[in-house]
Amino acid sequence: MDNILLEPMEVHVSDLTWDQFIYPREKKSEKTIDTYVEALAIGAQFPPIKIQKVFNYADGNGTTDLPAGRHGATIILDGIHRWSAFKESGIAKIAAVECKDKPLDYEKNKVALLLESAKYNISHGDRLSPGDKKRIARDIASTDPECKWTESALAEKLGVIQQTVNTWISDIRARHKACRKTVILRLSRLGWTQEKISETVKLSQNRVSEIIGNTNFGNIDILLSQGHDMDYISRHYQMDLALAWALRLEVMTDQGKFKELGWGLRTWDQWNFNKCDERFGDDWPGRIPAQLIAHTLFYFTKPGNLVLDPMAGGGVVPDVCLLFERKCQSFDLALRDNRPEIQRYYWDPQNWTWPVTKKPDLIFFDPPYFRKKEREYEKKTNAECPSISSFTKEEYESFLEGFLLLSKRKSKAITRMAFLNADWRDFESTSASKENPVNSITIFDYHRILTKTGWKVTHRIECPLSSERISGNQVQKMQDRRILGTVGRTLLIAKRS
Ligand SMILES: C[S@@+](CC[C@H](N)C(=O)[O-])C[C@H]1O[C@@H](n2cnc3c(N)ncnc32)[C@H](O)[C@@H]1O
Repeated sequence: MDNILLEPMEVHVSDLTWDQFIYPREKKSEKTIDTYVEALAIGAQFPPIKIQKVFNYADGNGTTDLPAGRHGATIILDGIHRWSAFKESGIAKIAAVECKDKPLDYEKNKVALLLESAKYNISHGDRLSPGDKKRIARDIASTDPECKWTESALAEKLGVIQQTVNTWISDIRARHKACRKTVILRLSRLGWTQEKISETVKLSQNRVSEIIGNTNFGNIDILLSQGHDMDYISRHYQMDLALAWALRLEVMTDQGKFKELGWGLRTWDQWNFNKCDERFGDDWPGRIPAQLIAHTLFYFTKPGNLVLDPMAGGGVVPDVCLLFERKCQSFDLALRDNRPEIQRYYWDPQNWTWPVTKKPDLIFFDPPYFRKKEREYEKKTNAECPSISSFTKEEYESFLEGFLLLSKRKSKAITRMAFLNADWRDFESTSASKENPVNSITIFDYHRILTKTGWKVTHRIECPLSSERISGNQVQKMQDRRILGTVGRTLLIAKRS
């Protein structure tokens, strides 16, 4: 992107959009903002922030003087802390420089804008953390299946060495490069029929059958004994990391697999995992740890059993099924280019249908936790197929009732329902004693709905979320206002009553 910086001008603080893709700082530094607020109070001047007008922007608020109907916005490329400080100080206008004087097509220039913003932020001020840079590299790699951005170009833009970029994105690149052969093996291991695989990969059924019968990756152990790691091996065979691991773990017992993956096996009903294992599943809003699924499979299924994942998101359930040699059928309303095993499917409460013919042994049901991440899920879909996270409380509860009734009808007597959810309370800006329970849905409601729809809850397993992502500053603010947060997340296991 040619960089023409224009004359500074004054813009309304409230007209600017912080786009998390373009300016992906996971945590703004509250300390920096506080310092800026104090500096503003004593009349300090700040250099102008950098902005860009865009159109074709889904969340557009129409601030870019575009013709009616063209969604536009003015997004911040540099200066998120200054902008936040102005907002907090109640100052209406801020000095800004436009990067280009004409609005740009957001969808076409997304990656270029992301890199432009990264460039400003590696060279000054509150530098991007290694975590931010990693996220930028991974975001770009995920939207770049043709590898137009080389590792060295990304390394240069992000101010790191090429080897670092390789480590960050090798799994994504491996998945994009995964040849048809490994896609066929993945689908076949997850239990897809050869007919369906042949339709999906557009090869004759005979050829599919030949590939399934004749492909042999006997050298994994040799490569390991030569000191190569699993990232190298997945690249070497042009397969995704989960399949490479599945081949390595083949024929081991479930317990042996836990050991080899470095996951301690939990014996009690408290499954506490600090973070997601990045090897399995994609970055996805509400992604859950692979270890949580592995434990569910360990306790409630056997190798060869069929698992249904109706809302698969980042695909961590199919990845773990692959590792533990369970079959899997997975669906989501979001279209996934790089995950052929997740079929696009909309669970429509106006017209319930069931896309699976064989009855599952386990249903791993991980719906959006009511309104949590509403905006993120909205971005994955369109108005005709809204995510259930944008439903009212009544619609959401009635959706769960409809889905649970249907799944009961389509299950076997021994089918287990693994239902994951968390209390949703309206605590964001409300002190605990003032919360209005009318706005909340809790695990007790989910228990009630399961019981009402003919599912008997047999186990309740606590799988808390990590509270590490909340900064000390935010914690202090919550304590000052007596806000009681929630990190609880519960897995309810049920069977037909
Ligand atoms: C909590 S996320 C699943 C996360 C996933 N288990 C993971 O670890 O990545 C819930 C998913 O439900 C999907 N979803 C919401 N409403 C849906 C509907 N009516 N039909 C199909 N999928 C839906 C969303 O797109 C989202 O990916």
